[in-house]
Amino acid sequence: MQVYHKSKKCRICSSKNLELVLDLGIQPPANSFLKKVSSSEKKFPLRLFFCKDCFLLQLVDIVDKKLLFSHYLYLSSASKPILEHFSKYAFNVFNKFWKNKRKPLIIEIGSNDGSLLKEFKKLGANVLGVEPASNVSKIALKSNIPTINKFFTSKLASSLAKKGKPNVILANNVVGHIEDLNDFVLGIKNLLDDDGIFVFEVPYVLDLLKKTEFDTIYHEHLSYFSLLALTKLFKKFELEIFDIQRQSVHGGTLRIFVAKKERKKIKSKVIKMINFEKEYGISKIRTYKQFGKKVLILRNSLQKKIKQLKQEGKMIYGYGAPAKGNVLLNFCQIDNKMINFIIDTTPLKQNLLTPGTHIPIKSPTKVIQKGAGDIFLLLAWNYKKDILKKEKRFRKRGGKFLIPLPNPRII
Ligand code: TYD
Repeated sequence: MQVYHKSKKCRICSSKNLELVLDLGIQPPANSFLKKVSSSEKKFPLRLFFCKDCFLLQLVDIVDKKLLFSHYLYLSSASKPILEHFSKYAFNVFNKFWKNKRKPLIIEIGSNDGSLLKEFKKLGANVLGVEPASNVSKIALKSNIPTINKFFTSKLASSLAKKGKPNVILANNVVGHIEDLNDFVLGIKNLLDDDGIFVFEVPYVLDLLKKTEFDTIYHEHLSYFSLLALTKLFKKFELEIFDIQRQSVHGGTLRIFVAKKERKKIKSKVIKMINFEKEYGISKIRTYKQFGKKVLILRNSLQKKIKQLKQEGKMIYGYGAPAKGNVLLNFCQIDNKMINFIIDTTPLKQNLLTPGTHIPIKSPTKVIQKGAGDIFLLLAWNYKKDILKKEKRFRKRGGKFLIPLPNPRII
């Protein structure tokens, strides 16, 4: 199996007009937590490129999807705020389109442990998940969410379509994972009922750029979407974006509603957002070069801050072991000499080591023993509000948090 290759052309428009905007060095895959330190730990280049023809921001360093996704340690159910987001998500989509109508069929691509489908099922929908990770799809099956343990392709879509076309296809934080985007969208087009909708969420490139969320760039995330780039992709398959909603999860997400051409009225806010992207400079290389510079400044200032805290004799721990945390730690060279351990609520991650930096991950009960003089580097910064609320007592005892983005600061 070839585990790594470098792609030479744009994932949407096949152009070779790609320019480097940020080099994050040689990094292990961000979710490849280790049982023990190993000399054969796999690391690959991690570089961000911009397509000057269709404006897609993307990686060219491709790690084999089987290596990344066949056994997966991220569980939606481990983050309470995500479960709350899913519950509102299902309610919103279901009531908008299917209230008082017959039971819709909903297929989710990358359905993880079935957390989102569970919410649709509660509302009365027929559901089916497609999930490539065998360990995670088993968890979904155990909680009675029918799940096919496969990667979604146009071939799988054609065989699913024979059994019944879904009214809704969902894909949450998965479209950015897809290497062959054209095959993926072809599959959506062929599978979806003619009056159906494709609803998906992706981290929004505007949030990435504005808030310097560089650590969300990792091998799993091959594309960083703008509406400008997505519109070009869907147009090729006679699909249209007819509605959008901005969401706060994962540092800023765009929920996108897609239908077959001329089936739904396109909302004016879609056009407004596209115009805003143009004004912001989403189609200009200089916007991305500026972002690249800001990332280097951020790294310097975080490294300085940590060095200073260590000189003052402070103890630093990590809060949360998200994939993005591993990018931040590796890129800023913050390892187990600076961070004693990390706490994380995901049982599958506990007692493992972070990839590249080899910091032990422990269960969150440890935080109860900490207070004055202790600092948690908030690696799961996307849950800042919830975590600060949850750790009120630690903060009352004099404990502090180091927030890494967009500018490192202690609170
Ligand atoms: P998340 O930011 O959702 O994802 P990604 O891996 O894509 O960057 O991951 C958040 C991690 O933080 C996850 O491993 C669970 C953990 N976590 C905690 O440890 N405590 C908490 O209170 C919350 C909300 C999350």
